Amino acid sequence: MSVRDMALKEFVDRHHKALDDDLAELRRSNESESVPLILAETEEILSLLTGLTKPKKILELGTAHGYSALFFAKKLPEARITTIERNPAMIVYAEAEFANRKEGERIDLRIGDAGEILSGLADELKDACESEKYDFVFIDAAKSHYKEFLEQAEKICTKDALIVCDNILLKGWIIEADGDAAKRHRTSIKYMKQFLDYLVERDDLDVSILTGGDGLAVIRFKNE
Ligand SMILES: C[S@@+](CC[C@H](N)C(=O)[O-])C[C@H]1O[C@@H](n2cnc3c(N)ncnc32)[C@H](O)[C@@H]1O
Repeated sequence: MSVRDMALKEFVDRHHKALDDDLAELRRSNESESVPLILAETEEILSLLTGLTKPKKILELGTAHGYSALFFAKKLPEARITTIERNPAMIVYAEAEFANRKEGERIDLRIGDAGEILSGLADELKDACESEKYDFVFIDAAKSHYKEFLEQAEKICTKDALIVCDNILLKGWIIEADGDAAKRHRTSIKYMKQFLDYLVERDDLDVSILTGGDGLAVIRFKNE
């Protein structure tokens, strides 16, 4: 990240208003322990999108310690959230954060690999009506698997669902990576580029690529 980009991020962060003190403290503690969580600017965009669309059933891939799941639950008091995490070291914290808050009662933490859990959800929902399907999906897990995740999530979404994929710019490495970063992240970079090309080829989707936060792809079905 360039000095200018860092200064802009700090500026945006300073103007970020948390939903409540609890979420502000959770962000602070996650950040101080280097727990992965959505950037403040990403949260602002998710807040805008969910505020406009008011989803009732949210599916999240990648829970970490539960920050974004709790953000969705606090922002949308009517919504139910299913969130998927496979890392035991994350799960133990997420379970505790959900158990400590009333919003946690509306969060269903599914433990395991997102691909496998999504297959299970497709079975659970195969005869489901529209209102039982997910109307908002947030993909924030393994960056090399976004194409599979999107294709699996599509099967359990309503026709008007919004699907948001985080980190599509991979801290800028998508267009330039220095020697070390290029090596360490080459798989994610390769698959993310392929995923973005794939999105452009899909004529049945409306795709908006946003550069806010770490880059977001906001996807809707055209329903023509
Ligand atoms: C960026 S973090 C999620 C942050 C979270 N959404 C938040 O903002 O609080 C990504 C998480 O996805 C999990 N993850 C990565 N690949 C996964 C997979 N295939 N299945 C389930 N979880 C996965 C990682 O263990 C990690 O905790």
